[in-house]
Amino acid sequence: MNKLRIAVQKSGRLNEDSMRILKDIGISIDNGKDQLKAAARDFPVEVFYLRNGDIPQYLQDGVVDAAIIGENVLIEKGNNIEFVERLGFSKCKVSIAVPKESKASSLKDLACKRIATSYPETVKKFLTAQNIEANLHIINGSVEIAPNIGLADGICDIVSSGSTLFKNGLKEIEVLLKSEAVLAVSPEISAERKAIL
Ligand code: PRP
Repeated sequence: MNKLRIAVQKSGRLNEDSMRILKDIGISIDNGKDQLKAAARDFPVEVFYLRNGDIPQYLQDGVVDAAIIGENVLIEKGNNIEFVERLGFSKCKVSIAVPKESKASSLKDLACKRIATSYPETVKKFLTAQNIEANLHIINGSVEIAPNIGLADGICDIVSSGSTLFKNGLKEIEVLLKSEAVLAVSPEISAERKAIL
């Protein structure tokens, strides 16, 4: 039987709420620990547990038909993947932050400065739109430490509660975008699977 293949985040902030939302709509999944794929018992759905950053490409290639993913990841990966529904959880911002004693008060003030980020494409888009040049340092995690170790003058990262910024002596100076979990759909989805979706 044709099954709808849905990707969810394997681990991280979206995982728990993604599984809860599937359960809430009546899809029960047998998932052993470390299993990367599981079928629903009562509905033609297979769930793939994937790394967040890989999901847009899997959607693009039609390897999965749909995904529960942060809108910010779709924007960063820039594959023009559409989403059909906002899911109302994992709300966050992608923001610019600087050490709290810094005089910078907007992205503009970081012109020609060093910005550490895991969201280079998003930052580039905003820099280009404002005709600003800056030096980007791409790092994959613990971005908030970068100013403290002398690696950067500012950062661009996800802000949720704001506690990571606070604990690292940083302040938010500009919100680039707001994001939440969305239900994204592959451009390659077949009519039959779209009907299941
Ligand atoms: C994200 C992000 C920040 C943190 C912000 O990291 O990179 O570090 O959350 O959240 P807060 O404003 O509530 O403190 P996450 O813990 O999701 O893991 P990551 O380092 O793998 O991105």
